[in-house]
Amino acid sequence: MGKMLEDYDHLLNIDYDRDYKIPFTTSDTLITTSGRKTESLNGKWNFSVDVFDTFIRKKFFEESYLDEQGREKPVDFDFDKWETVDVPSNWNLQKPEYKFFEGTGVYTRKFQYNKRQDERVFVRIGAANYESRVWLNAKLLARHQGGFTPYNTEITDYLVEGENRIIITVNNERKLEQIPSINYDWFNYGGISRDVELITVPNAFIKDFKIGLIPDGTYQNISFSIKIDGKRQDNQTVCLEIPELDIKINAEIDLNGLASGILTAKPELWSTEKPKLYDVCVTYGQDVITDRVGFREVKTVGNKIYLNGRQMFLKGVCCHEESIENGRAMTLEERKHMIITAKEMGCNIIRLSHYPHSEQTAKLADSLGIMLWEEIPVYWALCFKNTETFNDAENQLKEMILRDYNRASVVIWGVGNENPDTDERLKFMKKLKDCCKMIDNTRLTAAACLVNIDEMKIIDRLCEHIDVVAINEYYGWYYRDYEKLSEIFANSKMDKPIVISETGADSVVGFFGDDEQLFTEDHQAKMYEKQFEISNGHVQGIFPWILFDFRSPVRLNPLQNSFNKKGLIAADKKYKKMAYNVVKKYYHSI
Ligand code: GCU
Repeated sequence: MGKMLEDYDHLLNIDYDRDYKIPFTTSDTLITTSGRKTESLNGKWNFSVDVFDTFIRKKFFEESYLDEQGREKPVDFDFDKWETVDVPSNWNLQKPEYKFFEGTGVYTRKFQYNKRQDERVFVRIGAANYESRVWLNAKLLARHQGGFTPYNTEITDYLVEGENRIIITVNNERKLEQIPSINYDWFNYGGISRDVELITVPNAFIKDFKIGLIPDGTYQNISFSIKIDGKRQDNQTVCLEIPELDIKINAEIDLNGLASGILTAKPELWSTEKPKLYDVCVTYGQDVITDRVGFREVKTVGNKIYLNGRQMFLKGVCCHEESIENGRAMTLEERKHMIITAKEMGCNIIRLSHYPHSEQTAKLADSLGIMLWEEIPVYWALCFKNTETFNDAENQLKEMILRDYNRASVVIWGVGNENPDTDERLKFMKKLKDCCKMIDNTRLTAAACLVNIDEMKIIDRLCEHIDVVAINEYYGWYYRDYEKLSEIFANSKMDKPIVISETGADSVVGFFGDDEQLFTEDHQAKMYEKQFEISNGHVQGIFPWILFDFRSPVRLNPLQNSFNKKGLIAADKKYKKMAYNVVKKYYHSI
């Protein structure tokens, strides 16, 4: 390419991004970090919004400040003098003018590194919404899509002794072929929403570790699998210890780096009343992984759901991952408060809507004792025919399952929400469900389906492929006549559990009146009383939509003020509406 074109590439080349669309980093890069010492890169990063992708067009990452004759040349950036933001955070809350910004944000910082021999270094991004790219010392190393799951990229060969510069660009533009697509009922927070850390491991290290009770009704068979990555030295075994169960074994590693097997033990079972966790330790040479793991069995028999052989009713509630102050980058305290609030209301399960929340939430759920339904944002209308769209959904599903496999609290993997019952969607979702079961056959699969309001019954074709049939129904709100709900249950007998994965109504804090008047707290309370009365005996669980009011740009009624007001509690997470007490009373009566 002539010098003219090269020098003017940023102006004359319409396909300016072509060199940076490197293959997506996927779930096979994940490394277990449980108990591993990592170096946090959280904190103040330099930041700029980049409305026209100038960072890419003019190759800011090269940091070339001099021309060929060594003279200073004008540049349109200055990393060290850009504003600073916290990582993790969402730029929408950084300053008023960024609130609705959808585009590219550029984050950068420097860090010191003292190279040591015989080790490998990875950078792990806990989540960045939606498409992110990682440069280290001017080299593009990774590109990831999916706003709610982690990825790693190896930086060993690109680190220099002393000062290194990392740059992460994040683009949160909504795109038709993404997961979710361009229309959804929540706020499109952009940025690096979760931790960024450096993981240092030996040349050969523990890449993946799965452990769990085999759901065979004996509660005595614990299966494990350990994946060793890298050039293996002499040691052909890996050590697995569960001291409190008097377990210490050396498992043979096969040619593929895999060690797996079944342990016989009688662990105290994990439950929401008694969330017993065991210290587990895996040692391979210098590399050590520790985790705190609960052992429990969840399964369905007929139309009932069982935890550890005891039939249970899912006293649920839905939650988005949001705090008004911090957006998706909730603090640990905020996550703990969400769980404790749900437990106090009488819940034994939370549906983490509509995307994977932070792994911190799952770890807190393990220790505080509440079950979780985790799901990927296969939400409403998507490009179900598009292969790239499926690959994105499948990868997000794998990243979610691989990240939280050892979390006893997670009992349900959700593969979708309110999707149209079309042939291409059915094919898409069946493959997702199969992917779920292939990685993890110890948990239940579900999807929040729509009721067929022409036939007034649950006939979504996906239902025969998932373990738990879930329906989102809003009788008493979007449909005012409750009798229809009774008709649906009468028409929808099936030999698998049915749960109401969503039901609810908006109410404005402090707006009291007739219990038939929409948006009053009285009406929302009445709606739940009717829902509990009608659904009783027909379902194995119910998940009120939603615990807290939340931001949503699609809610344009001044009464909503760009919030979805179906919360049982206001967005301040303090004010409990009348409906909260109706749900609490019902749950404590079961
Ligand atoms: C839908 C959807 C939710 C949405 C809710 C509502 O069922 O799943 O994400 O917020 O209903 O209409 O409030």
